[in-house]
Amino acid sequence: MVARCKDIKRTLNFPRMQSLQQPSLSQLFAFGLQQPLSQNLLLHPRFSKNNTTTMAKQRLVVFGATGNQGGSVSRAVLDDPELSKRYAVRAITRDTSTAKAQDLKSRGADVVAADLDDPFSLPAALHGANFVFAITATSYEGHTRTIETRQATALIDEAIKQGASYIIWSSMSHPAKISSGKLAHAVHFDVKAEIETYLRAQPVKSAFFAPGSFMQNFTTMMAPRPSPANDGSYVLANVQRPETRLPLIDVTESGAWVSAILADPEAYDGAFFAAAEGLYSQVEIAEVLSRVSGKTVRHVQVDDEVYKGYLPEASREMLFEMNLLFREYGYYGESMERDVQWAKEQARGTLTGLEGFLRRIGWGLE
Ligand SMILES: NC(=O)c1ccc[n+]([C@@H]2O[C@H](COP(=O)([O-])OP(=O)(O)OC[C@H]3O[C@@H](n4cnc5c(N)ncnc54)[C@H](OP(=O)(O)O)[C@@H]3O)[C@@H](O)[C@H]2O)c1
Repeated sequence: MVARCKDIKRTLNFPRMQSLQQPSLSQLFAFGLQQPLSQNLLLHPRFSKNNTTTMAKQRLVVFGATGNQGGSVSRAVLDDPELSKRYAVRAITRDTSTAKAQDLKSRGADVVAADLDDPFSLPAALHGANFVFAITATSYEGHTRTIETRQATALIDEAIKQGASYIIWSSMSHPAKISSGKLAHAVHFDVKAEIETYLRAQPVKSAFFAPGSFMQNFTTMMAPRPSPANDGSYVLANVQRPETRLPLIDVTESGAWVSAILADPEAYDGAFFAAAEGLYSQVEIAEVLSRVSGKTVRHVQVDDEVYKGYLPEASREMLFEMNLLFREYGYYGESMERDVQWAKEQARGTLTGLEGFLRRIGWGLE
């Protein structure tokens, strides 16, 4: 076990890890003194893995529990024979009466109402929390940096105040930083990375789950359209080059990475997970879409200005520059391939590829 932990620490030695500020000895003491002794001990794999029957469960508070990522995280823990013994799940939603909230309750979660826009609802949601899965949703109507920053800092600050010892943040790459300031409008990505920086500076352990592009997008905004040639074929039209690769994740498998963190939290303290099943070029994506649908799907690179015209006005610059990030720098920047491979190796359970995902959901083209 010790050797495995050491191996993981060594493998974690990525650029984003190296930039971490090491806490001073006094900070470590201050942190240790703030935490009940039992919590610190429980973070140690030797205690948390082997003594599950005798130790009290750790409370995991999951925000966005009725959504894609939080839902997956909740189910992954509730359905895992080992983790369900170690963690009690508290699922947070604004409306506890919905079918999704009730489903989580029937699986064994404690479902609690809270709203990130209502700071007074957060103490009860986070009372007694040991671990927190924290996430904010993009506002495509504008002001997402302001809104997400306000929500996330309120969540993080209250979690620490309530004694949480470990926060897993749904993060993202940092387009402004990756592009040396050239991309200044992909703020729905930037803000998640900025909150990551904020969290890393707090007196709490943390890990970062940064999902790739959802495979589910091919059923909505990234779905192929009928070809203008009107010949029964379809086009996957975007501004990417044919060889531009995208990290793809079936977002309902987010729990595979987050449960790996929860299984060994000490080992992953500070780690960044570029979470994707694999990297797919536009040509490869079109091939998979063709194979599954039985129709011809071709990738077509559209002129930048033409593409921009198709984007909704309120989020046009934001979504356009996100696409430029993918094409010019890579979704996670230059270390994308290495980071995705490393994160994939850590995932708990098997991951589904694009073809398997599309077949599973019965995807097709009319
Ligand atoms: N689409 C992609 O390819 C992609 C890729 C990477 C990252 N992302 C990021 O993923 C995030 C969305 O994650 P997701 O897909 O897991 O979410 P989702 O399925 O859209 O669900 C959003 C969740 O957030 C909760 N929520 C919304 N506003 C809230 C508030 N004020 N207080 C408390 N809870 C609130 C909702 O809960 P209730 O409604 O039950 O309260 C719901 O559970 C976005 O920020 C996006 O930028 C997307």
